[in-house]
Amino acid sequence: MATAKREKFGSRIAVIFAMAGSAIGLGNLWRFPYLAGEQGGAAFVFIYIAATLFISLPVFISEVIIGRRSRSNASDAMIRLAPDKKFWRYIKYLPVIIPTIIASYYSVIGGWSLDFMFRSCALQFTTADPAAVSSVFGELISSPWRPLVMHLIFLVVSTLIVAGGVKSGIEKFSKWSLPLLFVLIVVIAVYSICLPGASAGVDYLLKPDFSSVTPSTFAYAMGQSFYSLSLGMGTIITYGSYVSKKDNILGDGAASAGFDLFFALLAGLAVMPAVFAAGIEPGSGPGLIFQSIPYVFAKMGETMPVLSAAVAILFFLTVVVAAMTSLISLIEVGVAFLMEKFGLSRSKSCLVVFVICAVLGSLCAVEGSVLDFLDWSASNILLILMAFLVVLFVGFVMKKEDVKAEFTNNGELSGPTRIFPVYYFLLRWIAPIAILLIFVSNFIL
Ligand code: PHE
Repeated sequence: MATAKREKFGSRIAVIFAMAGSAIGLGNLWRFPYLAGEQGGAAFVFIYIAATLFISLPVFISEVIIGRRSRSNASDAMIRLAPDKKFWRYIKYLPVIIPTIIASYYSVIGGWSLDFMFRSCALQFTTADPAAVSSVFGELISSPWRPLVMHLIFLVVSTLIVAGGVKSGIEKFSKWSLPLLFVLIVVIAVYSICLPGASAGVDYLLKPDFSSVTPSTFAYAMGQSFYSLSLGMGTIITYGSYVSKKDNILGDGAASAGFDLFFALLAGLAVMPAVFAAGIEPGSGPGLIFQSIPYVFAKMGETMPVLSAAVAILFFLTVVVAAMTSLISLIEVGVAFLMEKFGLSRSKSCLVVFVICAVLGSLCAVEGSVLDFLDWSASNILLILMAFLVVLFVGFVMKKEDVKAEFTNNGELSGPTRIFPVYYFLLRWIAPIAILLIFVSNFIL
């Protein structure tokens, strides 16, 4: 329909930044370390890396293919590519519903980060007693109003950025935030690893003990890998629809997955050593980063108060920014859908998505069990289901020539032309079987 009018990313590098900006977020900084802590450390980390390379990367590429080929919002994309297959009509709202659910509670965690940024500005961590600082998080979530207000502020700002449009909003934002985040997380990881008692944390993250692995470890690792790469929820399909026909999809996918993996490992190296140095239980759940990282700043504050204050403020600022680049991509899915489906203006669509997320998110902000339930059901059930459907669609519904034409830009790219058989094999045989087995064993075993 409106193919000619669709907005496009300005350049190749903008695509990678926007996709990596969507991928790198709380999934890496908040979710990865706490799941690694809950699921037994290094064994989980290794399974997660394998899942990313052999399952998530092919799924990522497939989503870009669906988006670019259909040039459509996530809900209509598959229907447009296979108009005579009824099945895809029944699930057409899934790729819009999942990200909107995630956006709701994501902005609550974004709100926690915002709260910690304000606390850093008030020098609360720099001047704290290291032994007591991990309790600040408990104070925050037991407050009746703070999490709610922070969630709403966070959501308003993110929605306004989306209202600015694909180019002016998302591109500008993700260009400066990622490099800054990268530098800071390296600084914190180095300091964290040097803390007394920290080496046990490094071992915990890198020396696997496979005896503790259960079927659900695989499900968590795979779900986390999808979550972290923004898969299974229409985001990459939507971004894919803005990708130019000249772009190398394999290159974009490999770069995004590589950055994302790297960031998760760095975040783990920032958090886990501090967890052990501070004597926090690694399996203490979603608060892990908010309990452990302030310890780093409190310790640093004892000898280097200025550095500690600066790093603390900048760190939580970049966590906020990383969360925001992800949240805007989650909101963008619903917005693109409403604009194309109902012909609403960008601002009206933003308003609708905002209201939904504000209401759902507020429930999560005041009731932790709602948040936990939404997070678990979205990533361990819905994402896995959606990724499975994507794999089946590109592997079995789309014609091989069409998939190959997208993957290789009609044979113009020599690298992808050589790699295509590997991708196609992983896509058709390894990914679906692995996803199905992991999904089912999660319930049966
Ligand atoms: N991948 C993001 C993260 O790691 C979360 C996200 C999921 C963002 C889906 C957009 C879409 O934080």
